[in-house]
Amino acid sequence: MDFNLTEEQQLIQKTARDFARDHLRPGVIERDEKAEFPKEQIKMMGELGFLGMMIPEEFGGAGMDTISYCLAMEEIAKADASAAVVMSVNNSLVCALLYKYANENQKQKYLTKLASGELLGAFSLSEPQSGSDASNMRTFAKQDGDHYIINGTKNWVTNGISSDIVILMCMTEKDVGYKGISTFIVEKSFEGLSKGKKENKLGIRGSDTCELYFDDCKLPVENRIGEEGEGFKIALGTLDGGRVGIATQALGIAAESLERSVEYAKERKQFGKAIGQFGAIQSKLAQMAIHVDAARLLIHRAAKLKDEEKPFGKEAAMAKNFASKVAMDASTQCVQIFGGTGYMKETGVERLMRDAKITQIYEGTSEIQEMIIARALLEEK
Ligand code: CAA
Repeated sequence: MDFNLTEEQQLIQKTARDFARDHLRPGVIERDEKAEFPKEQIKMMGELGFLGMMIPEEFGGAGMDTISYCLAMEEIAKADASAAVVMSVNNSLVCALLYKYANENQKQKYLTKLASGELLGAFSLSEPQSGSDASNMRTFAKQDGDHYIINGTKNWVTNGISSDIVILMCMTEKDVGYKGISTFIVEKSFEGLSKGKKENKLGIRGSDTCELYFDDCKLPVENRIGEEGEGFKIALGTLDGGRVGIATQALGIAAESLERSVEYAKERKQFGKAIGQFGAIQSKLAQMAIHVDAARLLIHRAAKLKDEEKPFGKEAAMAKNFASKVAMDASTQCVQIFGGTGYMKETGVERLMRDAKITQIYEGTSEIQEMIIARALLEEK
């Protein structure tokens, strides 16, 4: 594996770092406190090409590789994990799905606007009774001439409130399990679609999450992606890429925790010397550094395999499982190093700990990632 970044990759990393410094770090604590969506910042990220990074330019994207996407995402997540998940969902779940599975008309109509940031997308798979067991959904689309009529409730939809377009997975045939699931493009203005209240969350409070209610929602047949029954494989195939994005969001939180901890260990004095001079603190810093680097290597391996169009589902699951644990551990240690100061909102480090937790839950819990890894191991020849 080549560990050197190309000039283009270094430039993207720097652009993201500068943008995060100038536009995401200011106000991040207040946005978290008020659970305020970073609307202006997301608009600017679209202008910079960060919302459709891996989509070719002909479809409104930036035409970059997955490593570049990870480099930019890490910088964004270091500053604001809420902005990072908005970016991850639009890139890896919405644009990537449309690019891989949608037809030419759908790409022209929707992908170009989503990849350029003109529109924002959401991905809706989960339902109240089907989280990890994703295929056990009930929302049903019944065909009626040139339309489908959709009824049901989806939940935990990231970008749910702010999105213009929702990629929806729902049943089109009963009693055939996952083979009855299809994928649709839903516009927010479609009659019969309504959005629930903005959920009040522990972390990533700047991103919005809500339920979606489909009450005889009328959707044209041409908005179905692929054939009926292909929806579950489309969703799982897309989530492999999504997990690289979320792993990188977790990495950003962990890297920020390490950086903040090192700075503080140098400046905070106790017993007459900087706390970084104590073995107990040094050990924490060293372990954090090892784990942050290991997480980055796992992520970049998965990204590289993806760019080479090789199977990467197991590697993405490994990266997400590991990086999310590293984010949780590193952010907790960061608060510990900051002590009482870290427990206060003003430092912003307690936010890292709250933001980290979701990375072990969404886009497949850590336990689901282990299931995916173990199944792949047992199936390997
Ligand atoms: N790509 C394509 N197809 C795949 C696949 C993949 N990665 N993984 C499995 N499949 C195929 C299987 O081969 C199988 O097809 P065949 O019968 O033809 O072989 C079919 O899909 C069904 O697979 P399984 O029998 O393995 O399905 P399962 O019901 O046991 O579920 C699971 C597998 C991995 C547990 C899956 O349900 C899962 O990933 N659950 C977690 C759900 C999840 O990640 N939700 C995230 C919601 S979105 C979100 O969180 C976004 C956000 O807010 C930020």
